[in-house]
Amino acid sequence: MLGLFRKRRRAVREPSDLLALPLLHWSRDDAWTLRDAVEGTLILGATGSGKTSGSGRLIARTMLSCGFGGLVLTAKSDERALWEGYCRDTNRLDDLVVVGADGAHRFNFLAHELTRQGAGAGLTENIVMLFENVMEIKDRNRRTSGGSDDGSFWRDRGLMGLRCAVDILALATGSVSVPELVKVFLSAPTSPAQVCDPKFQEASSCFRSIKAADAKSKTPRQQHDFGVACDHFLLEWVALAERTRSTIQATVLGWLDPFNRGLLREMFCTDTTLTPEAVQDGKIILIDLPVKEFGEVGQFAQVLWKYCTQKQLERRNVQENPRPAFIWADEAQHFLTSYDFQFQATCRSSWVATVLLSQNYSNFVAALGGNEKGRVETDSLLANLNTKVFHGNSDPVTNEWASRLIGRTLQCRASGNHSHAADDQVSALLGLDWVRENGTTSGGFSEVMEAEVEPREFTRLRTGGPPSWIVDGIVFQNGKVFNASGRGWLPVQFNQKA
Ligand SMILES: Nc1ncnc2c1ncn2[C@@H]1O[C@H](COP(=O)(O)OP(=O)(O)O)[C@@H](O)[C@H]1O
Ligand SMILES: [Mg+2]
Repeated sequence: MLGLFRKRRRAVREPSDLLALPLLHWSRDDAWTLRDAVEGTLILGATGSGKTSGSGRLIARTMLSCGFGGLVLTAKSDERALWEGYCRDTNRLDDLVVVGADGAHRFNFLAHELTRQGAGAGLTENIVMLFENVMEIKDRNRRTSGGSDDGSFWRDRGLMGLRCAVDILALATGSVSVPELVKVFLSAPTSPAQVCDPKFQEASSCFRSIKAADAKSKTPRQQHDFGVACDHFLLEWVALAERTRSTIQATVLGWLDPFNRGLLREMFCTDTTLTPEAVQDGKIILIDLPVKEFGEVGQFAQVLWKYCTQKQLERRNVQENPRPAFIWADEAQHFLTSYDFQFQATCRSSWVATVLLSQNYSNFVAALGGNEKGRVETDSLLANLNTKVFHGNSDPVTNEWASRLIGRTLQCRASGNHSHAADDQVSALLGLDWVRENGTTSGGFSEVMEAEVEPREFTRLRTGGPPSWIVDGIVFQNGKVFNASGRGWLPVQFNQKA
């Protein structure tokens, strides 16, 4: 299998043929193909229901043994050992690259974005989007810990400033770094008098960068963007009320700060030893900064890796490099951003098998903001994860949702009834009431729409452990009729020890 996905030197098979390859079988007659895999997978179940050790384990090992590259995000500290085990069993240990707190693997994301090959390389918007993704997590964490929800004005203004600062620095020096971005914001003029003061101009890093950028030759687009950036710092910024300006400045510095010190600086703002391109060469990058241990730092690092890997995989040409890749997130709610639903809606042609594991539907809504927008984004994201595996769950919202998703069918019901007059107690006691003429008997059939799988069924699924080590799951794939069940869903038993 591994050989099929190597870079195409000789055209052995058309990549589109590969999509029909069965990767695993849910039943003897029902295969899960590469096409199914790259259409995304969602695994839902309560804690301890067997997500990790049941369906998760089977799918992970399948993708490893089929030669996928991948990115593994971690929430718990035991996930590294788990994946080392999977890789050992599937002979992929040589491909496993662990990015850990030792800083041995570093990825300067700003330099990489600015210098990488390919369409769209070096665009300011991409760099700002990188920050925006991480900032979404930061804003969300602040909200859930009781902070204010009303940050959109500051966020938008901050992003605008960041965009201008990136443009100026990229033009002036050909590079963008977090410390330089910080300097631009700390030394931007705050009054019209400063803008005209030669002493200030000399001392201000922001001003020096503007001058250096001004001296560089530019394409018409760069010239336009540079004009906008100059207007921003030399006209708009100085005209802002002091409180407004300092709040925007504090907002941007708050975003940049985590990358300007400690582990994140070392991992993302020094040199580069590993990039997301490794995934398409068949490496399995595991980010061993579990959220439970590293908190927000672990989240930032993993969201950044996820976003950069998604962008990288989206850009590749599967005709030239048909090796599929997976992005794996157990406890996926820690790593979700709004970009995920956009990515999932458009990534089919990039052959990326996203696998998200979580406890329930509400986790996704909460992670995406907890509001109506979050619900819409959740529905879009989950609709674009075509294979769904439901394990035991007692969450009514998830069980109702899953039941509705699987759908309703017309069910035939037989009914019968007999009644007799209340005063004929003697006949009734003798059991002869049916012989009376005035007793009535009725019967018939009715057709009713009923759930194929009632919500309560999800509370009865087995969750593994001794003695059977069997985890029950209900597999649903949109638009598919399973041969083994003749229905759009299939009960599957996963053996934890297989
Ligand atoms: N190696 C193991 N030994 C004993 N029990 C296990 C082992 N792995 C999992 N289990 C049990 O199987 C069940 C499912 O576990 P797990 O797959 O981790 O659930 P989830 O990922 O849904 O939280 C749990 O009851 C857990 O205690
Ligand atoms: Mg688990």
